[in-house]
Amino acid sequence: MPARKNAARTPAGASGRSDLVVVANRLSVDRVVGRDGSTSWRRSPGGLVTALEPVLRRHRGAWIGWPGGPIQDTTPFELDGLTLVPVPLTEDEVGEYYEGFSNATLWPLYHDVIVAPEFHREWWDSYVQVNQRFAARAAEIAADKAVVWVHDYQLQLVPQLLRVLRPDLRIGFFLHIPFPPTELFMRLPWRRRIIEGLLGADLVGFQVPGAAANFARLVRTLTGHKTHRDLVTLSDGRTVRARAFPISIDTDELSALAKSPETEARAKELRAEVGNPRHVLLGVDRMDYTKGIRQRLRAFGELLQDGHVTVDDAVLIQVATPSRERVEQYRVLRDEIDRMVGNINGDHGRIGTPAINYMHTSFSRKEMAALFLAADIMVVTPLRDGMNLVAKEYVTCRHSEDGALVLSEFAGAAAELKQAFLVNPYDINGLKETLLAATHADSRDVTKRMRAMRKYILEHDIGRWASGFLDALTTP
Ligand code: ADP
Ligand code: F6P
Repeated sequence: MPARKNAARTPAGASGRSDLVVVANRLSVDRVVGRDGSTSWRRSPGGLVTALEPVLRRHRGAWIGWPGGPIQDTTPFELDGLTLVPVPLTEDEVGEYYEGFSNATLWPLYHDVIVAPEFHREWWDSYVQVNQRFAARAAEIAADKAVVWVHDYQLQLVPQLLRVLRPDLRIGFFLHIPFPPTELFMRLPWRRRIIEGLLGADLVGFQVPGAAANFARLVRTLTGHKTHRDLVTLSDGRTVRARAFPISIDTDELSALAKSPETEARAKELRAEVGNPRHVLLGVDRMDYTKGIRQRLRAFGELLQDGHVTVDDAVLIQVATPSRERVEQYRVLRDEIDRMVGNINGDHGRIGTPAINYMHTSFSRKEMAALFLAADIMVVTPLRDGMNLVAKEYVTCRHSEDGALVLSEFAGAAAELKQAFLVNPYDINGLKETLLAATHADSRDVTKRMRAMRKYILEHDIGRWASGFLDALTTP
């Protein structure tokens, strides 16, 4: 994806304070240093940025986060209408706070222990130190009685740290990933500190009601505070609410992109480029072991092997954004996916027509919309996922009301997109059968399902999510 160079310093941002402050590990953009030493900005990976960018644009708040890589300059700046406030991380902190505690301890622990979490005391120390830095920066940037909205598992201590520094603020926290059941969370040596960190907020939001229930149970077990429905009452009388707010996307923006004649033409071109098969299947993910890419490739490979499909019937396009590439489990996954794609294409592809078109790269929003339009079957198979915005993006783009969504039961999105072809990705035979069912489904059935999902998604967009959360946060 092309990088942009149009960052401008803003004296107002540098000295002014904001009534709405978003705090997230990453800024909406990642700093890229070119070979000639010049710097530019590229959209950061992941669903958090997809969801929050339009919210901040509308509410005109400030966004505090790490701009990727080591930086010294922490002056706020404006980029494409957003006020961005950089928080620096040292090389050691990138290793210990980000790659270590956030992505090799919390990430696997919160995603059903798909790989084993590692527990290291120096990673925790770094996590505390970086959370303190984010809290201190938020305390400087927030105006009197401002609303501060803290995001995701990397910053769970910030609400409590910030409350000590600035008791005048309204503090919200939203967790974008799953919140695990007690049995898993209790393994964490610093479990009580995390729960107390979150209880610094006035409102703690989760993707699904089950996650909020897990949190309430942990609050009772670890702190002894009383809970009643979504309300926690602390010993000093302060109350904290914990509720589900299923996140969404900017459906207007994506819908407009998908409806543009340019995108429609590009979608046709993409189909032609993969050999105009009867069915184009699509997978779009960050390269992450939670996304069930292995299981998806295995099922598709076996369908080709069993002779249920040929490359004339069906071709899979798999795009995977590079992610967390220095973390061991991510390297292992990438090698395995490279190998699996090579084997399947070697066994079943033809010259000019591989069975799987695989790209380990990021695309522009426009190209993503064209891919969603080009795909007859969207295959979303996470082993566990907080929400999964890709599923919602596919539905948003299908304005002709066709296209089948194959969706894992273990994605938060499955609770809302009930008309999808739901599947257990651990069950490879079940996944194969579901892929075949989606391929052979009657067009009236496909349209009926898609129409219902579109109705739901278009009514539950990111604006509704943000105002739902902010209204609940600011209404006493
Ligand atoms: P996560 O937050 O775990 O990455 P989501 O499915 O919620 O998962 O969000 C992923 C976001 O990243 C979506 O907006 C999706 O369109 C985008 N994305 C995923 N893969 C790519 C890619 N290869 N190029 C560009 N954007 C991508
Ligand atoms: O919620 C999922 C998430 O971890 C976000 O916090 C983040 O924006 C995204 O995935 C991408 O991950 P990373 O910031 O580690 O590249």
